[in-house]
Amino acid sequence: MGFHVNKNQNVFYSVKKYAFSAILLLITSHLYAATLTSFKPGKDWHDVDGKIIDCHAGNIIYQHETKTYFWFGEHRGSPSGASCYSSKDLYNWKFRGVALNTGSTQGLKGGFIERPKVAYNKKTGKYVMWFHYENAGSYGLAHQGVAVCDSAPGPYKFLEHFRPNGNQSRDIGMFNDEDGKTYIGYAANRGTSINADVRMVELSEDYLTVTKNDVVTNAHCEGPGVLKWNNKYYLLTSQCKGWDPNPATYYTSSKVCGTYTNMGNPCIGDTKKTTFNSQPGFIFKIPGYTNGFLYMGDRWNGGGSTKSQYVFLPIFITADGKMQLKWYDEWKLDVFTPTTDVKKTENSFKVLMYTNIINQSGLHAYDLIGRDIERALKNISADRKIMNINSGTAKNVVSNGMYIAR
Ligand code: DGJ
Repeated sequence: MGFHVNKNQNVFYSVKKYAFSAILLLITSHLYAATLTSFKPGKDWHDVDGKIIDCHAGNIIYQHETKTYFWFGEHRGSPSGASCYSSKDLYNWKFRGVALNTGSTQGLKGGFIERPKVAYNKKTGKYVMWFHYENAGSYGLAHQGVAVCDSAPGPYKFLEHFRPNGNQSRDIGMFNDEDGKTYIGYAANRGTSINADVRMVELSEDYLTVTKNDVVTNAHCEGPGVLKWNNKYYLLTSQCKGWDPNPATYYTSSKVCGTYTNMGNPCIGDTKKTTFNSQPGFIFKIPGYTNGFLYMGDRWNGGGSTKSQYVFLPIFITADGKMQLKWYDEWKLDVFTPTTDVKKTENSFKVLMYTNIINQSGLHAYDLIGRDIERALKNISADRKIMNINSGTAKNVVSNGMYIAR
């Protein structure tokens, strides 16, 4: 009897043990393999292998041929350097390795990098990484560094580090303009005042070095990010408060290098005035959306670490041209307007246009349902743009004119 009880107990415990392990495995594999379908700003974010994403204060680029996003940022774990992740949807990321390893890259030994940014140069076919380089925690060197690679994920070959045009340079941002020119916005000193100015420097045609077009923008101080909307440049920055979150400021200008005008804090409902407990890092223009601007912020929690969270939020520009950053516990890309919708609208609107403008000459302005709104141009909201239709260049257009598209 005793024997039977023990045997049953053993069987029971074994079954229980295996069932428990199986359930644990199921739960963890489910957790790790779970496909994400939204952004959850400020929450821990795991890659597709279940590891915490370690990619801070960087940028995202899109590779059109492979329809792949690459996310670069500070790799704060070991080895230190710049990490690279890839994704097809911006929610689920795969670790592609440390793209630039400060420990093993000749010339960078002993130093560290912050805020890496990558741009693809169409003319040379190379990926170029720029970063803030320091050789000591005092941040006294204040250099920009540059590295290059034939493929997006790396490994990148370090080229050099220096003060751009002799200026101290700490936090850097990057902006790729529609004409192919790329600029680095950087926190520079004004006399002895640390990081008091954001300067903007244009990169050389191959993006491998800086040009002499290097100006004070009138904006300050750190974490610069730029977007362009309706031919206007928006420069977003934080204050200079170490690792502590503080209110962001945005500036606008009709020219990428400025001079910029202070437009105040873009945050709505940010009662603690901490940019929702984050610092700006980059603004990514998401392809496939007319107004898809992604705010990429970092929640440093008093000091950068492997686990510093990301605050990714949509940036909106209102009808009267104001930048707005609102908090979402969770959000999806569907907050933006897909370009395909616009194309559909444009096509059907063009058909409507033909009947309105046929046999007429001169410029005409119509709204999306064909009403002549030439006299009401002032009331066109900023998320619509006036487009010239030229019968010589635009397919299917029977007459020169203007129309309004969203
Ligand atoms: C604030 C900057 O924005 C960060 O990138 C980092 O350099 C910290 N300062 C260091 O204190």
